[in-house]
Amino acid sequence: MTLSRRRFLTAPTALAAGALLPSALITALAAQAAPPADLSDWEAVRAQFVLDPAYLHFASFFIASHPAPVREAIEGYRRAIDSNPFLVVEQGLFEDQAHNVPLQVKTEIAQYLGGRAEEVCLTPNTTTGLALVYHGLPLKPGDEVLCTTHDHYSHHESIRLATERTGASMRMIPLFADAAVASTDSLIAALLAGIGPNTRVVGLTWVHSSSGIRLPIREISAALRARSGAPLLLVVDGVHGLGSTDETVASMGADYFCAGTHKWMFAPRGTGLVWASAENWARLRPLIPSFSDFDQYTAWEKQTAIATPNNADRMSPGGFVAYDHQWATAAAFRMHRQMGKARVAARIRALNDQCKAGLAENPKVKMHTPMSGELSAGLVSFEVDGMKPAEVVKRLLTKNIIASTSPYAITYARLAPSLVNTPEQVDRAVRAVREISG
Ligand SMILES: Cc1ncc(COP(=O)(O)O)c(C=O)c1O
Repeated sequence: MTLSRRRFLTAPTALAAGALLPSALITALAAQAAPPADLSDWEAVRAQFVLDPAYLHFASFFIASHPAPVREAIEGYRRAIDSNPFLVVEQGLFEDQAHNVPLQVKTEIAQYLGGRAEEVCLTPNTTTGLALVYHGLPLKPGDEVLCTTHDHYSHHESIRLATERTGASMRMIPLFADAAVASTDSLIAALLAGIGPNTRVVGLTWVHSSSGIRLPIREISAALRARSGAPLLLVVDGVHGLGSTDETVASMGADYFCAGTHKWMFAPRGTGLVWASAENWARLRPLIPSFSDFDQYTAWEKQTAIATPNNADRMSPGGFVAYDHQWATAAAFRMHRQMGKARVAARIRALNDQCKAGLAENPKVKMHTPMSGELSAGLVSFEVDGMKPAEVVKRLLTKNIIASTSPYAITYARLAPSLVNTPEQVDRAVRAVREISG
């Protein structure tokens, strides 16, 4: 990286090239490389969290409680930035590649996703990622974006706002009437039947936060590619699959994979990512000036056109951000790598299987999440006969059990067993639902 690279956005006061990193940043970086915590059993993992022990936490997917490695990383960077804001941020962002902290974060993320660092765009959350992708797509009047009636507000509204601007259209289809009895074949058939002659983009949600169904994205993507007709781009809202499912995201078949990392990944609140291949990044137009793409900056400086194709860094929203949080994202991904993706997914599946089996024995309960672990992940959605979902959640809270309702027009009660829970806690939650259902 050259002196002009280092001058990016800090030109009037930049240090000479080769200046030493501030010691506070070195300390924070060294802390990131410190020997990891013992995560060899689930009690050790649970001990990383400072959750209020007065409650059973079954809504952890909503927003993360930072585990110890993440809290320590945030604290290290916070101390470093507080001690020397200019030098730490300027050099953390614009120093040579070996010391570039966002690059280290993206390298760690890429390892987990099975992709490359340059394919990862850092965002503050899922919503921003979806908005960037849909607004970046080269949509034109007549093009259609197809999504489903089951997607999240953030997803639908990203499509609506983008299509309204470009003159393209948006259409939603149901993939099932009852998620609990859906199958891979029925999901694929419903989607293929919904594709119209003008469909250019398909938006799907990996794990639905309404019904808890987990779409078989790999199989769906293969079916989309195998069909005849105009090629389609597949955008996936992956937030509740990332960190709960044993998948290699970069080869799953999504063209654009958007996720917050502040839910199942336990990364700092206010962090997220979009993953796409270089070819797919090149299709998009950026929306917000980037602070991490040198070509964009120099083109602005020289008032010339940008000569290189669009890329993940150019899509990353610029402006200074909460670097102590963004940079500590690496610690969360390292923690997941240490726990093991397959091991984490198996634990989450076992707890959710237990929860579903227990609830299904209750004649007053209607399950909305498929019983199969192949079509679900960490969310269990259900209704209790004669009781509004909000009332179910309220009554569980009187027993110090934190459940949630799904934020959709048709809403369900949700229990989300995760790494912070134990099988004994799941039993208590199931018993509590039985008690309130009479
Ligand atoms: C399926 C789904 N997509 C998107 C979001 C929004 O996530 P974020 O807060 O990371 O933007 C949520 C929120 O929980 C969600 O359930």
